[in-house]
Amino acid sequence: MATFFFSHTQLFSSIFILSLIHLSPSSTSPTTTLSVKTYGAAGDGIQYDTLPIQAAIDACTTASTTSGRPCHVTFPPGTYLTATLFLKSGVVLDIQQNATVLGGTRLEDYPRNADRWYVVVAEDAAEVGITGGGEINGQGLKFVQRFDERKNVMYTLQNLRQEMDCTLSTSLHLVKCNNTSIHDVSIYGDFNTPNNDGIDIDDSNNTVITRCNINTGDDAICPKTYDGPLYNLTATDCWIRTKSSAIKLGSASWFDFKGLVFDNITIVDSHRGLGLQIRDGGNVSDITFSNINITTRYYDSSWWGRAEPIYVTTCPRNSKSKAGLISNLRFVNITATSENGVFLSGSKGGMLSNLKFTNVNLTYRRWTNFADGLVDYRPGCQGLVNHSTAGFIMEHIEGLEVENVNMRWSEDRSGRWNNPLDFRPSTVNNISFYNFRSGLYNQ
Ligand SMILES: *[C@@H]1O[C@H](CO)[C@@H](O)[C@H](O)[C@H]1NC(C)=O
Ligand SMILES: *[C@@H]1O[C@H](CO)[C@@H](O)[C@H](O)[C@H]1NC(C)=O
Ligand SMILES: *[C@@H]1O[C@H](CO)[C@@H](O)[C@H](O)[C@H]1NC(C)=O
Ligand SMILES: *[C@@H]1O[C@H](CO)[C@@H](O)[C@H](O)[C@H]1NC(C)=O
Ligand SMILES: *[C@@H]1O[C@H](CO)[C@@H](O)[C@H](O)[C@H]1NC(C)=O
Ligand SMILES: *[C@@H]1O[C@H](CO)[C@@H](O)[C@H](O)[C@H]1NC(C)=O
Ligand SMILES: *[C@@H]1O[C@H](CO)[C@@H](O)[C@H](O)[C@H]1NC(C)=O
Ligand SMILES: *[C@@H]1O[C@H](CO)[C@@H](O)[C@H](O)[C@H]1NC(C)=O
Ligand SMILES: *[C@@H]1O[C@H](CO)[C@@H](O)[C@H](O)[C@H]1NC(C)=O
Ligand SMILES: *[C@@H]1O[C@H](CO)[C@@H](O)[C@H](O)[C@H]1NC(C)=O
Ligand SMILES: *[C@@H]1O[C@H](CO)[C@@H](O)[C@H](O)[C@H]1NC(C)=O
Ligand SMILES: *[C@@H]1O[C@H](CO)[C@@H](O)[C@H](O)[C@H]1NC(C)=O
Repeated sequence: MATFFFSHTQLFSSIFILSLIHLSPSSTSPTTTLSVKTYGAAGDGIQYDTLPIQAAIDACTTASTTSGRPCHVTFPPGTYLTATLFLKSGVVLDIQQNATVLGGTRLEDYPRNADRWYVVVAEDAAEVGITGGGEINGQGLKFVQRFDERKNVMYTLQNLRQEMDCTLSTSLHLVKCNNTSIHDVSIYGDFNTPNNDGIDIDDSNNTVITRCNINTGDDAICPKTYDGPLYNLTATDCWIRTKSSAIKLGSASWFDFKGLVFDNITIVDSHRGLGLQIRDGGNVSDITFSNINITTRYYDSSWWGRAEPIYVTTCPRNSKSKAGLISNLRFVNITATSENGVFLSGSKGGMLSNLKFTNVNLTYRRWTNFADGLVDYRPGCQGLVNHSTAGFIMEHIEGLEVENVNMRWSEDRSGRWNNPLDFRPSTVNNISFYNFRSGLYNQ
């Protein structure tokens, strides 16, 4: 059983889960059910229901401790305006269809510590869940100071821990969790708002994400290691649109990432498809990306990303950072149409080794008017660097196998995009191509 599950819910932002500790096995026996209405919640979207909802949660966790069974707090149809709610062990929030939990927009609605600025926070809790088919809405747009189609300017939010691209308006944020299951969730974030991730998974093991639908401005599924390693994350059957990376490991990467699988995923209209942005010395191994369709395009360069369908980098963040190693990466059954090529960039102390591409179809075409000809080492490192576009740019690699890979090119009007493979033997060793084709479209 999962110690945390999240299902059948639409999210417009803001759940934070810290440190789930397993206490007792989940029971299938009948649960206690408490309605927030019984505790005095108005559900009118005008008056704050924080106290009645929290009272119901507190009573529920007590009931669960006494009975040893999970307890449900139900939200019947209605709009429940609230300050931060603290979800406790043994409690499942059952947010029913047509019920919305609406985060307040006053600063005092949120905890003093900005790390906890979420509508629902579960900290040191076990056997908790959120389900029901309803919605949690963090009203992210109310925090926009200046709307800008390129990138909205946010009140205060973006200044904190900026260097580490920590996300304060992330929709679902797991920290130090074990055995988490997230399924049948839709996440909507504003497409123009930065630091507006879909699901962030920090320092957590045994996470399963399935059937997700994410449409947001910043990274959609983003495993990170700040304080401990991350093992065994599986994300399957998802649809993603983002102005940043659809899947991104890092950039916070102080510890290892191991045993990750991404399968059956559709990525549309995104600035980057599959990204590994390793900057802080953590090592990455045994990662598989399979059955993935990707469309990537350029957006304003203030957003990290350069239309790469696949992006693998280990340059150390700054002169004090260590380089991390990446090994045993598999890309299988991948189809991409993109405005830029694949970027595989290890670093002197952070080699990429044993990479394998199998059954990969890449179509290169330009359809926006944003400038190309830049490679993107951000965050940190050398930043944006002028470099001609290529099908694969490769540096600092030891062991790359490419098998059944087709590259198709549209006619390039500028004549600058005319290079399928770009690498130097001094930094790239032991690469092989079996059944590799490159050719113009419709030929
Ligand atoms: C939710 O609202 C929709 C549209 O108003 C309505 O058709 C549906 O019956 C409602 N469902 C519930 C469970 O109240
Ligand atoms: C994840 O597993 C690793 C390796 O066993 C362990 O060091 C780490 O503490 C675990 N993390 C959590 C949140 O349990
Ligand atoms: C996390 O789950 C794994 C696998 O079920 C289990 O072996 C491990 O003890 C759990 N760790 C913690 C900290 O609960
Ligand atoms: C984690 O999940 C596994 C498999 O579903 C289960 O065997 C194990 O007991 C769970 N561990 C915890 C700590 O809940
Ligand atoms: C990761 O999964 C593997 C295989 O299921 C398991 O052996 C290992 O204990 C898991 N790691 C952690 C840290 O739970
Ligand atoms: C792939 O995911 C989609 C949902 O995005 C699902 O409808 C489909 O059944 C999945 N395909 C397979 C082979 O699992
Ligand atoms: C990818 O596209 C192919 C061809 O259109 C389709 O058969 C397949 O189901 C798609 N897979 C995903 C994961 O979107
Ligand atoms: C990564 O691997 C290298 C080489 O084995 C090792 O020196 C380094 O300590 C590892 N990094 C971490 C964060 O464990
Ligand atoms: C790639 O294209 C070839 C030829 O059109 C096709 O046979 C193959 O199924 C495609 N593979 C993928 C992964 O889309
Ligand atoms: C890749 O696609 C082929 C053909 O559709 C399928 O047989 C194979 O199982 C797929 N590989 C993976 C790892 O999903
Ligand atoms: C990159 O190219 C642009 C336009 O071609 C040029 O203005 C700029 O000076 C170049 N930058 C570097 C660092 O070479
Ligand atoms: C070359 O790389 C492949 C994996 O890509 C590996 O199996 C093989 O051992 C390597 N050969 C040498 C000579 O390093």
